[in-house]
Amino acid sequence: MPGSGHKPTDFGDLGPFSLPLLLPTLCRMTTVTSPLEHLAEEYAAWWIDILGEHNHIGGADATRWLLDRAKLAPGRKMVDCGAFVGASARLAATVTGANALACDLNTDFLAVGRQLSGGELVHWITANSRRLPVRDGTFHSAWVLDSDISLPELTRVTTSDATLCLCCEVPVDGRGGVEAFIDEVEYHGWKMAAHRQMSIEATNTWRAAEADLVRRRPYFEARYGTRPYLAQLDMLGNLVQSYERLEQGHGLFVFERR
Ligand SMILES: C[S@@+](CC[C@H](N)C(=O)[O-])C[C@H]1O[C@@H](n2cnc3c(N)ncnc32)[C@H](O)[C@@H]1O
Repeated sequence: MPGSGHKPTDFGDLGPFSLPLLLPTLCRMTTVTSPLEHLAEEYAAWWIDILGEHNHIGGADATRWLLDRAKLAPGRKMVDCGAFVGASARLAATVTGANALACDLNTDFLAVGRQLSGGELVHWITANSRRLPVRDGTFHSAWVLDSDISLPELTRVTTSDATLCLCCEVPVDGRGGVEAFIDEVEYHGWKMAAHRQMSIEATNTWRAAEADLVRRRPYFEARYGTRPYLAQLDMLGNLVQSYERLEQGHGLFVFERR
């Protein structure tokens, strides 16, 4: 059993990032119990372990910030593209009464999401969000949080009064900065309605994730093996560096149709 023999206190103070976001399994280090923990066992990846079900920078707070601006209500339809376990779709359906569709390439992620809170309120579809199997003008709100963004397809599947909710990495350097990204979205017929810059939050988030990986090395090394553990740590370190060099940032965006 990976990590057996370690108690939560072996890792000392968990820090502000860990407390709300880490999977309970990291603290308990006992047998797998919840669907999300099971998923983390099957898909050994730090982002499932550390970010949890709201698998993007800012976590559930970022999801709520977007939800407050998405103009969803009963009778309106939203699509959560690259939904993972559909945390955004489930929250949107639960809070607003909207009709939510969670789409992901990975059927296993969707199957787990269906079992989580609010899963019964959501429709689940295994599909590529670059080619959604729906008619033109289906959705009143399209969401892409940290995955592949296909602006032509998102534009095709949305209504003329839709919102587009994004949580994504954006260039912040000489490649045109965040304005270049906004221009590109607006070129497809959208107008920016709200933006929350998250570069500092992004750096802090990844730093905290990196610190968690270091602090919990016995657990992660047993879980992933030495080389994958170090590779994941390197990947996080590279992301922190790119944020600090101001090469890229992270932002929340809500666009509305022009
Ligand atoms: C980092 S996770 C983000 C999950 C979720 N949006 C959230 O914020 O909690 C990215 C997800 O996008 C999915 N994904 C990536 N490219 C995709 C595509 N072209 N079509 C559908 N899903 C995709 C992956 O399988 C993964 O579950």
